[in-house]
Amino acid sequence: MDCKIVNGTIVTATDMYRADVGINKGKIAQIAKKIQEPAGEVIDARGHFVFPGGIDIHTHLDMPFGGTVSSDDFETGTIAAAFGGTTTIVDFAIQGKRMSLKGALKTWMEKAEGKAVIDYGFHVAITDLTKKVLAEIPELVALGVPSFKCFLAYKGALMIDDGALYEVLLKCKQAGALVMIHAENGDVLDVLINDFLSQGKTDPKYHALSRPPEAEGEATGRGIALARMAGAPIYIVHLTCKEALNKVKEARDAGFPVLAETCPQYLLKSYQNYLEPGFEGAKYVMSPPLRDKSNWDVLWKGLATGDLQVVSTDHCPFNFKGQKDMGKDSFAAIPNGAPGIEHRLILLFNEAVKKKRLGLNRFVELVSTAPAKLFGLFPQKGAVAVGSDADLVLFDPRAPVEIRAKTHHQNVDYTLYEGFKGKGVPKIVLSNGTVIIRDGKFMGQPGAGRFLKRKPFRLTV
Ligand code: URP
Ligand code: ZN
Ligand code: ZN
Repeated sequence: MDCKIVNGTIVTATDMYRADVGINKGKIAQIAKKIQEPAGEVIDARGHFVFPGGIDIHTHLDMPFGGTVSSDDFETGTIAAAFGGTTTIVDFAIQGKRMSLKGALKTWMEKAEGKAVIDYGFHVAITDLTKKVLAEIPELVALGVPSFKCFLAYKGALMIDDGALYEVLLKCKQAGALVMIHAENGDVLDVLINDFLSQGKTDPKYHALSRPPEAEGEATGRGIALARMAGAPIYIVHLTCKEALNKVKEARDAGFPVLAETCPQYLLKSYQNYLEPGFEGAKYVMSPPLRDKSNWDVLWKGLATGDLQVVSTDHCPFNFKGQKDMGKDSFAAIPNGAPGIEHRLILLFNEAVKKKRLGLNRFVELVSTAPAKLFGLFPQKGAVAVGSDADLVLFDPRAPVEIRAKTHHQNVDYTLYEGFKGKGVPKIVLSNGTVIIRDGKFMGQPGAGRFLKRKPFRLTV
């Protein structure tokens, strides 16, 4: 046996028990009360939870956006992820205009190869639909890409129209793929944005005011309606508000396969952040924007009841100096996105588990097991089970933690959570049986992360 983890408390989406974990050739080989067999390395996990590695299915590494590129590449971004207990990401390959989907995938494969320190997969975002592109969808599924994002916002750039979304839904249903939507009404936002700009209202807060929650609710409802017409499942990314969650809940209550995620920033930050002095509000410019605080309870309830199934980060970092300040004179020129890949587990553990909003098993389900199941990775990932990849997090629930841009590992000059204090640290992180984080030190290898060929979408796994 290559390695054994002894004396830890294993926590999965369903169980919590004391047991040892034996690892061989990168896989979990044995789970037993006491493993007697000698091992090359013995890791004492006394006082630690042993979680399946976190899975973040919404990241944007090395992504061109608004005339710049997100500041974490696949090396810095996956190292930061690993420090935070995330051992798998699924990033978005974005189809450029007149580009094929396979071309987009190839471009993103090249970005990741030789750099990623943890395993990774890709969704492809469809931004320019033609008959040829539509025909590529089954080929992409066969290549291990069974999920496609459609933007209902970013008019003139990434947005597609309802007809295109409907065609993608029909094709994906046939091909065993899941359609993910960015749900904001891009046409209406365009009018609002131009309206504010023409009045000289250029501060970061107008980013939020030009993207009201009603526009998210409308697009969420429309996406769901189109999915229902197509008889297809649909997944709403980065859901922020009650207007959108009500649409999801209504469809789920009626028995339709509607799935949705939210992100830590929508649970912990609010519209008030756009009012910070000077240009500070630009740090929070993301789409959809941060909402009124009244949405926090609504989202926590959605996570508790199951109407929201996943917490991902939408990690899309841009430096405050040199990138966000491209929009000093116009909120519309601020690149959209914010960092978060490193802090998802820490924030959720403190805000959900420690504050008793959610139980520990539900926490594991939201950050690891549910994303693995919905995105074709279970039980290879998202499980502590014999035969699963040995992607494990030894989490010390008593260790103090403080989030600071100065000490984080994300390649960006700020964090949304500056000064956040809590308890709970991923002390040791293993990827495919290899320790990649130990006591605050990175021990992994750029390029060690493998491309994951994901299985076709199934609602029940
Ligand atoms: O502001 C955001 N969310 N930027 C990343 C792109 C997207 O819409 O997910
Ligand atoms: Zn989006
Ligand atoms: Zn995103």
